[in-house]
Amino acid sequence: MDKLVALTKRRGFIFPGSEIYGGLANTYDYGPLGTELLRNIKNLWWKNFVQERSDIVGLDAGIISHHRIWEASGHVAGFADAMIDCKNCKARMRADHLIENYFAGKGEDKKVEGLSFEDLEKIIEENKIPCPNCGKKDFTKVRKFNLLFPVQLGIVEGEGGQAYLRGETAQGMFTNFKNVVDSSRVRLPFGIAQIGKSFRNEITPGQLVFRTIEFELAEVEYFFDPATEKWEELFEDWKKELWNFATKVLDINDKNLRWREHDDKERSFYSKKTEDLEYNFPFGFKELWGLAYRTDYDLLKHTEFSKKDLSIVDPQTNKKIVPHVIEPAVGINRLLLMVLLDSYAEDGDRVILKLNPKLAPYKVAVFPLLANKENLIEEARKIYESLKKEMMVAWDDRGNIGKRYFAQDEAGTPFCVTVDFQTLEDKTVTVRDRDTAKQDRIAIDKLQEYLQNKLK
Ligand code: GAP
Repeated sequence: MDKLVALTKRRGFIFPGSEIYGGLANTYDYGPLGTELLRNIKNLWWKNFVQERSDIVGLDAGIISHHRIWEASGHVAGFADAMIDCKNCKARMRADHLIENYFAGKGEDKKVEGLSFEDLEKIIEENKIPCPNCGKKDFTKVRKFNLLFPVQLGIVEGEGGQAYLRGETAQGMFTNFKNVVDSSRVRLPFGIAQIGKSFRNEITPGQLVFRTIEFELAEVEYFFDPATEKWEELFEDWKKELWNFATKVLDINDKNLRWREHDDKERSFYSKKTEDLEYNFPFGFKELWGLAYRTDYDLLKHTEFSKKDLSIVDPQTNKKIVPHVIEPAVGINRLLLMVLLDSYAEDGDRVILKLNPKLAPYKVAVFPLLANKENLIEEARKIYESLKKEMMVAWDDRGNIGKRYFAQDEAGTPFCVTVDFQTLEDKTVTVRDRDTAKQDRIAIDKLQEYLQNKLK
């Protein structure tokens, strides 16, 4: 993990947030390479779950939303972590993480999510768990800490001005459910999909972008009529979809993935069944993607709170239906962390990010063999400009070729094109493959086609 953190900073994937002002805990900025990687992951998610499906449509709801939405959803009352403070060093942490990390350090996989505050305190006391920061065993009681970010709108006075930054994108899909039904040709079963920033006042973020206070959620709310569809079958279909996306689209090694079902204590109050797709992060198997059967809980709650009828009419039977929902929800930033970890490889002192070419920030890098030979630079520049119209291309003319390969391997660039003296004679270039280090000699007028085939 430490090596990856260093690489992400060195190569411009991820920077600590507000760094020149001393940093702001648990916030990160994405550099030039990280921005491209995020964008590629989002585009692949959208292509897979919206573009290629005829039963899912997109939505882009607002980030700031009415306080009643979050009261109806149960977040104002219940979206909270169990917080505990060390009285000695004042470190603040999540009680469940304190316990789980303590047992993980002893090689035990203990899950305590969903236990009562009293039960958590008992485990901490009985096991004499020390503060991970100072080593003392002097904690406060476990207390409730709400994760929602309240915002006060300046233009509206009083309670009406109270809003929240959304804690999940899901609620936008429920509150716009009728708008989508009335404005498009969707028929049950169908999904509404959204990717967007979400905010949670997390107490114990860490491990780079695994858990941050601001992150990008990608969710589908898949609506169906329980009278005609078996939720168990839809749930299994979705499990296959998520597994397929992780292993086939993102190329993740399936040995690093597993499903884990939530027990009654851990499962959210609105869910009848939840399973997490977990990835084997360096700090243990952790949730990557949540899959939950939320029943009709949310639509009914919004009906109750808004006093608007959110049922739809079955065109065959004329019966009113409040659809049920299955929800796959994943953090794009968590996918990015997984993709970086899974593609990280070393060959001696060479670091290679063996990213699927579809994910790679730059698809190809173009170099003139020497930086002080005008005719080499001119030819390389022409190739660079022409490839740029089709794909993301890096340019490098610093240092020697070995150093440039080294830098592109760390950036995950699948191919490097070098313009050398032979190019000036026969209009061919060398194309070096990141993973095999093999070099092909390709005619410039065939280069675009060659790369497009390799990048498919
Ligand atoms: N609408 C359901 C929902 O939001 P969740 O399990 O709270 O469910 C879904 O979050 C996914 O979002 C998680 O599986 C994880 O990938 C990601 N996620 C949640 N909190 C996060 C955080 N603080 N930072 C980064 N990603 C987060």
